[in-house]
Amino acid sequence: MCFAKNQQGPIVVQGAMSVETQHIIDQMTEVREEPFGPFRCARGVLEGHGLVVCETQWGMANASALAALAIARYHPQAIISQGTAGAHDASLSVYDIVLGARTANSSAWQTYYRAAGAGVDYRGLKQLGVFAWDKDRKEFLQEVYHEGSPTLLAAARRAAARYEHGRVVEGTITTCDSWNCEADRIAFLHEFYGSLAEEMEGDAVAQVCQSFDVPFLDVRIISNSILLNQDPWDLGTGPVCQEFVLALLREYWLDVSCIGAL
Ligand code: 5AD
Repeated sequence: MCFAKNQQGPIVVQGAMSVETQHIIDQMTEVREEPFGPFRCARGVLEGHGLVVCETQWGMANASALAALAIARYHPQAIISQGTAGAHDASLSVYDIVLGARTANSSAWQTYYRAAGAGVDYRGLKQLGVFAWDKDRKEFLQEVYHEGSPTLLAAARRAAARYEHGRVVEGTITTCDSWNCEADRIAFLHEFYGSLAEEMEGDAVAQVCQSFDVPFLDVRIISNSILLNQDPWDLGTGPVCQEFVLALLREYWLDVSCIGAL
């Protein structure tokens, strides 16, 4: 199948740490360092296609700022947020990959009223969501979930068939500037949002991408699971996730390159 949307710009791939970005940069040619202030941003070519890798550092504000800056500078045809994540689903093992069919900001909620002295209940929440531009309704809508790009998801599914380090599943990834290590809280988030995994960047970037009409996908590798063990963080997963993203990109470019043949 061929797709034809805004193929002029490069693809932007974000990762928070060098262990989540360097492997892709190592595969690129004609690499030029084009930092945004103190943030590393490397632009280059991968097998004839423009690619930009931004190292955001941890967290939602950093990743969303870098996404907005990259959109203004590069007019990318798509943005991918990728890297490590913690499992919310007990069936997921370290090195399994979660494709973000949708993302949600798990800090966007309102508590129910409780009087002074009545205590706190982390389960007593109403979902709020965050505001992003809806191009059809022509207004900012407060939405809990942001859908991943169907085109990028389709490419990821094809790459998944050749992934050898674990399973590849699709579902919801939640984002928050927090790292949850309480099994009961993780069980609540799994139930409340349907989340398979948690990380600190994806939905913030999805929100920015939706407002600027840039296709987006969150791709995460399980690097730790409190549900399996005491949460050691396996950073060997970082390069493996990037290798999967390279396979995804190759599948995506197969789709877009057939445009020339039309
Ligand atoms: N919870 C939150 N973020 C996690 N990350 C990896 N595991 C987790 C987890 N269990 C990712 C975040 C951030 C860094 C801490 O690694 O996205 O970039």
